[in-house]
Amino acid sequence: MCGIMGYVGERDAAEVLLDGLRRLEYRGYDSAGIAVACDGRIEVRKTAGKLSRLAELLRKEPVRGTVGIGHTRWATHGQPTDTNAHPHADESGRFVVIHNGIIENFLPLREELERRGHVFRSDTDTEVLAHLIEEEYRGELAEATRRAIQRARGAYALVAMCADEPGRVVAVRMISPLVIGFGEGEMLLASDIPALLPYTREVLVVEDGEMAVLTKEGAHLYRLDGTPVERARMYVTWNAEQAERGGFPHFMLKEIFEQPRALTETMMGRVGPDGRIALEDVHFPDGFPEELEKIWITACGTAYHAGLVGRVLFERLLRLPVEVDYAHELRYRDPVIGPHTLTVAISQSGETADTLAAARLCRARRSRVLAITNVVGSTLSREADDILYTRAGPEIAVASTKAYLAMLVAQVLLALYLGERRGGLDPKVRTELVHELQRLPARVQEILDAHEEIVGLARRLCEAEHMYFIGRGLDYAVAMEGSLKLKEISYLHSEAMPAGELKHGTLALVTHGTPVVVVLTQHDVYEKTVSGLQEVKARGGYVIAVAYADDEHIAKHADTVLRIPRTHDLLSPVLAIVPLQLLAYYVARERGHDIDQPRNLAKSVTVE
Ligand code: AGP
Repeated sequence: MCGIMGYVGERDAAEVLLDGLRRLEYRGYDSAGIAVACDGRIEVRKTAGKLSRLAELLRKEPVRGTVGIGHTRWATHGQPTDTNAHPHADESGRFVVIHNGIIENFLPLREELERRGHVFRSDTDTEVLAHLIEEEYRGELAEATRRAIQRARGAYALVAMCADEPGRVVAVRMISPLVIGFGEGEMLLASDIPALLPYTREVLVVEDGEMAVLTKEGAHLYRLDGTPVERARMYVTWNAEQAERGGFPHFMLKEIFEQPRALTETMMGRVGPDGRIALEDVHFPDGFPEELEKIWITACGTAYHAGLVGRVLFERLLRLPVEVDYAHELRYRDPVIGPHTLTVAISQSGETADTLAAARLCRARRSRVLAITNVVGSTLSREADDILYTRAGPEIAVASTKAYLAMLVAQVLLALYLGERRGGLDPKVRTELVHELQRLPARVQEILDAHEEIVGLARRLCEAEHMYFIGRGLDYAVAMEGSLKLKEISYLHSEAMPAGELKHGTLALVTHGTPVVVVLTQHDVYEKTVSGLQEVKARGGYVIAVAYADDEHIAKHADTVLRIPRTHDLLSPVLAIVPLQLLAYYVARERGHDIDQPRNLAKSVTVE
């Protein structure tokens, strides 16, 4: 996820672009840049770091012109450096592009272009587009862009400029968002509406597979086969703050709804047509996967809960012993760890002090450290031996949602990858998992589409004083995360435990009406968990079950059932957590709390 901005008009383009990018900074903030057409050339200013650094650079080296494009980056390919910041240009500097998203086949494209003599400056996937457009140019930027993108695969939004056509900006949408703004004698373009609002409220959303050509007189919209598209403009009534959240009342809800995309992007380019897994930043030495004796997962909070899921996945699929440790515990233990152990350090931010310390300890004991993180260039990613980036985009709400789902999928990819390298993974299981993995985004979407059903339940539960979450195996891991989500934003006391543990003490707290969430997706322990559920019912507890849509038995035992689409049992956490995230959100909303910034908490805990 990155922020894109374009301007064609009479104003100082650099000023408009910088202002728009400020409103898009929530989409990415590791580097930024602009390109402005002036005197027959395109001037580029870009830098690593937040927008304030770009503003500083522009004060020192101003650019004057009335047409330009701008970008604020959330890295997916290549570290957040000055060189990797957008815009990117071909060797001549006449063709300049910015882009949001992923070009899946950029490596073969880059190799092909290099063979033809193109010289690349950055490590990004984006740069291939500038070179491709340059190769295809025969005097018309729109035509060259159309031809160039026919060779690129992926999900992206692209904006291009050419020094020979200074009054024109060309944009293409392939999944990643793009909105056109219609001003008085000026036209704008952005990844999201907030950037447009100071200039206009008349907008048009570019749809997938469409190209827009902007001049200061207006915009022309085409399908990629060149057919013109006519669509009515919309009038935006949101204020700037609402618009930044995409019309959602909170970032948390927006991020919950971004989960299908986060999953798609985390898998993109990593699952081949033959089901083989490719992990671009994992470089295990020859023999390492085969000689692996143990996996040690370490993390905090939600990332630790993702690790609980990873434990079951790695154990089942790789038949290796796996430990999961809170990083703040591991760092003060004296772990028996060595060169045949793979440490998997999980952290959305890649900056959690305890996780960094635990990873360093493991590395000092000669364990290879693989980071699963959402932030390219974070400390964890820089210090790790291997990296598996989740591509959830910036997560703003303190309560982690989309990053958690992406961490789960990243671990499935890692397990399949290691399984391929080590051998011994049942091909039938592998095929089933790959097949089901690719259906997860649509299945998450199904749950989101039915989100209103959870509002009524949240009203019923919002007065509760305590709540319990139980499950077995993977369902226990989901119970832990469901409970954390609820308590951190609703301040309602809640506890999670393995379903079999309830009767060893906590059951004493279950009385008439006590809400107990029971997660029931694992067929091998289903009956056992139902017994636990009956212990709750017998004490008058109010049972909320999370179960598959085709589970015909559960309605007999539970007071309320939150249904999820059926999937492979090993993937069920990806779905089962979604209704619980929504439940936490709606309970917190009923209780009137500050959902995006809960009291006493911070997004990244960078101190011990
Ligand atoms: C989850 O909702 C929390 N905000 C918190 O538990 C978080 O997951 C934890 O602090 C770890 O953060 P990290 O993933 O950035 O390392």
